[in-house]
Amino acid sequence: EEGIVTRHLHWPTDGFFGSFDRAAVQRGFQVYREVCSACHSLKYVAFRNLADIGYDEEQIKAIAAQYQVTDGPNDQGEMFQRPGLPSDRIPGPYPNEQAAAAANGGKAPPDLSLMAKAREGGMDHIYSVLTGYEEPPADFTMPPSGYYNVAFPGHVIAMPPPLNPDQVTYADGTKATVAQMAQDVSQFLMWAAEPKLEARKQTGIKVILFLVVLTGLTFALKRKVWADVP
Ligand code: HEM
Repeated sequence: EEGIVTRHLHWPTDGFFGSFDRAAVQRGFQVYREVCSACHSLKYVAFRNLADIGYDEEQIKAIAAQYQVTDGPNDQGEMFQRPGLPSDRIPGPYPNEQAAAAANGGKAPPDLSLMAKAREGGMDHIYSVLTGYEEPPADFTMPPSGYYNVAFPGHVIAMPPPLNPDQVTYADGTKATVAQMAQDVSQFLMWAAEPKLEARKQTGIKVILFLVVLTGLTFALKRKVWADVP
């Protein structure tokens, strides 16, 4: 879209042989949990899916148990809260869309499960929005609510700048700059949107190898079949 500044980064998943950087994806999950999950749901991801990005069963149980999940109805026909289980989807911060909008000046924070696929630019777009907050130019008229952001269509976004330096403390010692957290959470959201990305690329590689071998064999066979023809 016109006037939108999207920064283009090199991502580990780029290209034919690209794959996820597991450490970055795990750091990104930490950013999602500690920052984004205050406003955004991730409703298509179940706790057990985290096995994919390197968590073991005990860790997944522990993470799930930190959440309260709505279950029911019970024998009395009532809904009730219980600690999360690995088979639960990650619960969102709001009971419904109206509550989400009401808490955010009328704009509901979108679910992030498919965000990395939903917007043109994918990870570049998410990264650019997270790092795109600036002072509005002097000739720009700001509406009564919202924040100036160079990467967002219309340049006014309802999301307050979510990332500040050192907002999270990474267990692996990585310095939590805004750019670092933005990259990590973008990669995490790409995994959430396309957990089978690596399998897809590996299948592609196998298909190409198969075709190369098949072409060679077919050519050899052709030469053999026609060998006696002068
Ligand atoms: C919108 C990501 C934290 C509230 C968005 C969008 C993305 C995003 C990608 C959509 C941009 C688009 O539509 O193209 C994130 C990430 C976060 C985060 C990765 C954590 C690092 C938060 C927090 C809040 C929030 C903490 C609430 C305080 C919103 C709202 C919108 C939004 C209200 C809708 C904006 C609009 O349509 O104007 N966010 N967000 N976000 N986010 Fe966040």
